[in-house]
Amino acid sequence: MIDKEKWDKTFNELPDEAPVTEPERQYYFINKCRQIVKKINEERGLPLSYKTVTFGCQMNARDSEKLVGILEQIGYVEAADEEKADFVIYNTCTVRENANQRVYGRLGQLGRIKKQNPHMRIALCGCMMQEPEVVEKLKKSYRFVDLIFGTHNIYKFAELLATRMESGRMVIDIWKDTDKIVEDLPVERKYSFKSGVNIMFGCNNFCSYCIVPYVRGRERSRDPKAIIREIERLVADGVVEVMLLGQNVNSYGKTLEHPITFAQLLKEIEKIDGLERIRFMTSHPKDLSDELIQVMAESKKICRHLHLPVQSGSTRILEKMNRRYTKESYLDLVGRIKKAIPDISLTTDIIVGFPGETEEDFQETLDVVRKVRYDSAFTFIYSKRTGTPAAVMEEQVPEVVVKDRFNRLLKEVQDISAETCAVHEGTVQTALVESLNDHDSSLVTGRLSNNLLVHFPGDASMIGKFYQVRLNECRGFYYIGEQIN
Ligand code: SAH
Ligand code: SF4
Ligand code: F3S
Repeated sequence: MIDKEKWDKTFNELPDEAPVTEPERQYYFINKCRQIVKKINEERGLPLSYKTVTFGCQMNARDSEKLVGILEQIGYVEAADEEKADFVIYNTCTVRENANQRVYGRLGQLGRIKKQNPHMRIALCGCMMQEPEVVEKLKKSYRFVDLIFGTHNIYKFAELLATRMESGRMVIDIWKDTDKIVEDLPVERKYSFKSGVNIMFGCNNFCSYCIVPYVRGRERSRDPKAIIREIERLVADGVVEVMLLGQNVNSYGKTLEHPITFAQLLKEIEKIDGLERIRFMTSHPKDLSDELIQVMAESKKICRHLHLPVQSGSTRILEKMNRRYTKESYLDLVGRIKKAIPDISLTTDIIVGFPGETEEDFQETLDVVRKVRYDSAFTFIYSKRTGTPAAVMEEQVPEVVVKDRFNRLLKEVQDISAETCAVHEGTVQTALVESLNDHDSSLVTGRLSNNLLVHFPGDASMIGKFYQVRLNECRGFYYIGEQIN
């Protein structure tokens, strides 16, 4: 662990040479940026402000918290919105084409705002930046961008920013891959009472439609001791719920020097005093072990929710997707999970319109949806990602056919989820209050173990605490309830 206080003290007399070891090196550059920002703030009589905008998954959301941690150390304060910020950072996603398009659209707008603010800086990072065509396009048509970096060197943010501040030029630093994990950098959490915790990075599965393994690199697990230490610190700082993050948490630990399983890791985390709830994402069905099912069934802290992406119900399509399970083995797995943990809530991801998908294949997907009866499902229209094997497969499905299937699937999923949600009506359950209700501030919004939300009368003092709540009325995918003493 770095002696941060020591670095804070040396803030005014930084040595000329930066340390070579991490994270010390980054703390050096944080201080370097801090000196520059302090000077600008004094000259303007107004602190420089930042806004991070996160696209994509929880992994990206956690990365953004790391960026914010560094920015706040440097002395930036958060701006109300991106139009007013002096430093805007887009943490991008490229899992589907539309995620990509959104970034270009907003970036164009930002370029116009930048012309009016001489202090304004724009940084782009995240998964999209790992695609060479994207960076080429930015270099050519978006010259006003100040800083571009990727998913592997996010820990170097302070160093890159210092380079930008000193050189005054566009800085681009993208790594193809890495085997490095840098621990102990500052992080600023969005919520005081819950936090994401990376347990692994990257993905080795190469599902044929998916770009993630190309932009996030090879699978790397964090050392269990570092994970436990991080969670212990979070708990000491008021966190009661953690979400363990990885593209395929079920294969956690396989590449470690002393391999341990994900189920063993969970058992260790369960022992942490003061931690109340454990969640994790995402589980790949092919690697979900009986050991894990058992650990979940016996646990008092692991939440009654499992996100188990099926992608398709057709074994033929699953094979083309390189998912390495069949419709039957998936249904069998679901059966074993439900038997061991009867109150489990299951959610999933489904893709429609994968190349070669026929009406029969689609019917198999509907069949799985009806058999499993998911609490909710994220449905996606297949998006062709250049460089993935599926992008060059023949028989891409016509758009009208895909749209029609998508709508039929959505209706099925929504009808079933309304029914499964209603099952809990009238029961009393524990809710962790997360926020005031967006529309009615006399209500608070709490999350149940099974990940469903309940709105009930309360006030801001309840945020971050647990309450017993009766679920009076189910409204499709959330409840209206009341607190029970
Ligand atoms: N690692 C996770 C998923 C990460 S991406 C897992 O394997 O389950 C989140 C979801 O995006 C995927 O589950 C998939 O349903 C969807 N997705 C990924 N690539 C896609 C593509 N090319 N087109 C449409 N949806 C896609
Ligand atoms: Fe993509 Fe498959 Fe890896 Fe998930 S497991 S990130 S879908 S390649
Ligand atoms: Fe998107 Fe990258 Fe996550 S592509 S879904 S932000 S891993």
